[in-house]
Amino acid sequence: MRKTVIAGNWKMYKDLKDTEELLQGVKAQAASAPSFVTVIVCPPFTSLQLAGTLLRGSAVKLGAQNMSEHDEGAFTGEISWKMLKSTGCEYVILGHSERRQYYGETDAKINLKAKKALASGLLPIICVGETLKEREGGITEQVVATQVKGVLDGISASDMERVIVAYEPVWAIGTGKVATPAQAQEVHAQIRGLVAKLYSQSIADKIVIQYGGSVKPDNAAELLAQPDIDGALVGGACLKADSFAGIFKSGMQK
Ligand code: 13P
Repeated sequence: MRKTVIAGNWKMYKDLKDTEELLQGVKAQAASAPSFVTVIVCPPFTSLQLAGTLLRGSAVKLGAQNMSEHDEGAFTGEISWKMLKSTGCEYVILGHSERRQYYGETDAKINLKAKKALASGLLPIICVGETLKEREGGITEQVVATQVKGVLDGISASDMERVIVAYEPVWAIGTGKVATPAQAQEVHAQIRGLVAKLYSQSIADKIVIQYGGSVKPDNAAELLAQPDIDGALVGGACLKADSFAGIFKSGMQK
């Protein structure tokens, strides 16, 4: 049975003081999480060290929101895998639609980052998803398949078992327009089918595929009840301990 993985993407919110407050709340609520639920927080870079210290020994795992594809060097403003690991990070979100849209990240670049993360022992959460125009144009499956193939290019079967894919339809992010459980399930099943074709059925059966886009405490349970939805990547609703807990407690009931 696959784990249920609930990750909170804090985006560009929370200074150090807010980080401490939110994490105390999340930590307290996650203490009773059963072993099949993994709870991850992904604060901004500036909060990672503090978060790593506060979360040590707790049930909550730490992730980052982005990472350089390089090991080190003259890359102003970038953060390496080694820096992330030194804060206690185990996960890293890659290829978020906001990175693709505002910072020009391509599938090829995300692929390099994913390979670097895997080589360094970080677990990548790789995001894919179609825009509203693409959905309305009836090309969702094609767009998502192209992204999945592009970001996974050259990743070995043994590395693939450690990859988390996050399906985040761009039109559902921060809009309050959540995909229906049936819409999300359809794309999740397509992604799993594609992974089976690219790798094997047993790898496809093992990998975690998260849904992201306006996940809230009141819609999480029905999304997580879908057979191919193994978790959630949460934005707005992870910024308060109670609403984030409302989501990972839905995960606990799966
Ligand atoms: P919202 O939950 O705010 O829609 O954001 C989703 C997201 O982008 C998570 O990475």
